[in-house]
Amino acid sequence: MIRRVKGTRDILPPDSLLWQKVEAIANEIFSGFGYDEIRLPALEPTELFVRSVGEGTDIVAKEMYTFEDRKGRSLTLRPEGTASVARAFIENGLGQRPQPVRLSYIGPMWRYERMQRGRYRQFAQIGIEILGAYSPTADVEVLLALHTFLAALGFDDLVIALNNLGDPEDRVRFITELKNELAVHKDELCGDCQRRWDTNPLRILDCKVARCGELVAETSPITAFVSEDAKQHVDRVTESLETLGITVERNPRLVRGLDYYLRTVFEIISPELGKNTVICGGGRYDRLISDLGGKAVPGIGFAIGEDRLIDVLPQSFKESVLDRKIVAILPLGDTAVAAGLGLARVLIHRGFKCRTEVTGRSLKAGLKWAQKNKASVVIILGEQEMQQGEAIVRDLERGQQESVKLENLNARISEIMTGTETV
Ligand code: HAM
Repeated sequence: MIRRVKGTRDILPPDSLLWQKVEAIANEIFSGFGYDEIRLPALEPTELFVRSVGEGTDIVAKEMYTFEDRKGRSLTLRPEGTASVARAFIENGLGQRPQPVRLSYIGPMWRYERMQRGRYRQFAQIGIEILGAYSPTADVEVLLALHTFLAALGFDDLVIALNNLGDPEDRVRFITELKNELAVHKDELCGDCQRRWDTNPLRILDCKVARCGELVAETSPITAFVSEDAKQHVDRVTESLETLGITVERNPRLVRGLDYYLRTVFEIISPELGKNTVICGGGRYDRLISDLGGKAVPGIGFAIGEDRLIDVLPQSFKESVLDRKIVAILPLGDTAVAAGLGLARVLIHRGFKCRTEVTGRSLKAGLKWAQKNKASVVIILGEQEMQQGEAIVRDLERGQQESVKLENLNARISEIMTGTETV
C-alpha cells in the first residue's frame, strides 16, 4: 500500500464540509471588510523566504521544503503567505491601485516540523493582509475582522494576546540589553537558546523550557525600549479595540517566529489545544516590501491555522453544519431510476441534500441503506405507484408513511423537511 507523506492529511467527508463552511464564512466576512482573494503560487524562489521570514528563524533554518528544479533553481514550497503577498504586490504593481490594498488568501503551506496534534507538515492557513496604511486604524480593522470571523463561528472565549515589538532600531537596543542582562546566566539557557543567542536572540523570550522562562522573567521587557511613536501607535490600537468591545491581553513577552514584524504583534491561543498551540498569529510589517525591493509600503495582517481552528470549533457550529437533513430517493426497478435522479435534480434546486440509491437495492435493503445514511425522509419510487402517478414518502424521524401524488411531491417534501406540515 502506498501511504500518504508523513505530516500530510486526507480530509474526508463529513469533516470536509466543516472546512468548506469555515472557508465560505471566511470569504464572506473578509470580503465584506473589503479583503478579496488573491490566489498565490505554492512554489516560490527560496530567496523570497530567506529575505523576508529571515535566515535565523526556525522556518528558514530548519523547516522549509526546498529543492532544485531541473534547471538548478532553488525553489521552496511556501511555508507562509505574507512573503508571497508582498512579492505579488511588487511584481503586479499593486502600488498603482487605490491604497490601501486589502487581500485575503486560503491555502496549504508546508513546514518540515516535528509532528504532534495540531502540527502538520502540510497545513492550511486563512489570512488577510492590508498594504499601504501606516495608521493604527488599519491594525484595528484587521483585528476586528478576525474577531468578527471567529464570532461568526461561535467562538466566545478566545483571547487575543498582543505586544509591541517597537521598530527595528528599538529592537537592536533591546537585544543588546537582553544579552547584557542574560550574559551571566548564558550557560543555564537550553541548547536551543544558546544557538538562538547568535542567530535569533528574540526567540529566547518565548522559549518553552522552564529555566529559560525563569531567566527571561527577570529581564527588562521589550516594551521598555519602544519609541514614543511606536508606543502611541499600539496604545491607540488597544484603546479602539476596547471601544469596540474586543478585549486584548497585553503580553510583553510575546514575540513571533518571523523576522519581518514590528510594532503590533498578536496571537490567539486556544485554551483547549494547550498553551503552546497558537490558532492565529499576525502583526505589522512596515519594512517588508521595501526589504524585498519595493517602495516603502507598510502592511499588517494575520494567518489562522485552519487545521487547528477546525479542531476546536464550537460544538454548536459543527452540529449546524453536519446535521443537515438528507432526502433519500429509492427507485425500485429500471423505469424508476431516471425518475429518481430527475427528482433529485429538482429537490437539489430547492436546496435539499439528496442521496439517490444507484446500486439497485431492494425495498428492504434500500430502507436499511437510507437509515444508515441518516436520511430524514425516504421517497420510494415503486413501479406500481409510479404508474398511478404516485410515490411513497416515508418520514423516518416520525415513523410515518403516506402516498403522495408526484406533482405534489416537492411541496410535501418541503413541508416535512422544514417542519411546516400540518398533520
Ligand atoms: P505563523 O504564526 O507562522 O504566522 O503561522 C500562522 C498560523 O499558522 C499559526 O498560528 C498556526 O495556527 C498555523 N500553523 C503554523 N505552522 C503550523 C503547522 N505546522 N501545523 C498546523 N498549523 C500551523 C505566519 O505564517 C504569518 N504569515 C502570519 C501573518 C500574516 N502575519 C502577518 N500577516
